[in-house]
Amino acid sequence: MPSMLIDKEAFLRKLDRIPDLPTLPVVAFKVNKMLMDDDVNVRKLSETIEKDQAMVSKLLRLVNSAFYGFQSKIDNISHAITILGFSTVRNAVVSISVVDAFSGREAFEEFSLSDFWKHSVAVAVTGRQLAQRSRLAVPDEVFVAGILHDVGKLVLAQHYQELFRDVWIAVQDEGLSFHEAEKALLPVDHAHIGGVLAAKWHLPEKLVEAIAYHHAVGTAENNGNAVMTVSAADFLVHRFWSEKKAGDRPEPDQPAAEALAAEIESADQWFPGVAAEIEQACSFFVEAVN
Ligand SMILES: [Fe+2]
Ligand SMILES: [Fe+2]
Repeated sequence: MPSMLIDKEAFLRKLDRIPDLPTLPVVAFKVNKMLMDDDVNVRKLSETIEKDQAMVSKLLRLVNSAFYGFQSKIDNISHAITILGFSTVRNAVVSISVVDAFSGREAFEEFSLSDFWKHSVAVAVTGRQLAQRSRLAVPDEVFVAGILHDVGKLVLAQHYQELFRDVWIAVQDEGLSFHEAEKALLPVDHAHIGGVLAAKWHLPEKLVEAIAYHHAVGTAENNGNAVMTVSAADFLVHRFWSEKKAGDRPEPDQPAAEALAAEIESADQWFPGVAAEIEQACSFFVEAVN
């Protein structure tokens, strides 16, 4: 295995200067900012979303998909906001935007974008379920954190292809998990990179933290519960769902394993129900990248 040659500061400086790092579309920025203001209302939010017709059609397709399971058709954005609430709509807009932002870009050749998003969607759906069961975190926040948790891997696969290749080879040849290989070879891990990107995008602090610390749960300061839930979901997906066992977490992080012990222990009973939900969510999100 090649030794780690790259200096952390230099790596982070380069990351900060990548000119074509994906940006969030204007609509996601605005929606996100609005949710931080106190005087947001249904009309203002729907007018903002309606300025982006591509987003309108994707959002309506998502909320009408089997994943949300509403009986009657939701045919406009204000209706969607009334039924789902501000934060669910914000999280859906952010999720759709992020999946879009990274699609159609060149990456390390063995990296499969659709497998990547399947994993992320699986962690999002499982995390939401874990949050509902444990009441440890807000289900919807965990969902969007799950979608985004490994986004740093995409930055590596698309912008640091050589380094990504080294990590990839170490995983194949030495039987390491992705995260173990990355810790041996890179100055920062994908969690840190994802956190940098989420902060650049001005996503809420909580979300930035849930991404940045998902492999070091014990060091998260403010948002321990959401990050623990994401971490436990990542572990459960690795154990029960990944077809190729290609996840990066063979063991749960200790604090998450303790806080969610009951839910993890009973997962072989409830996970099969979640698997169906994962498929439904994949057929929306993953279809978007193909
Ligand atoms: Fe990860
Ligand atoms: Fe993951």
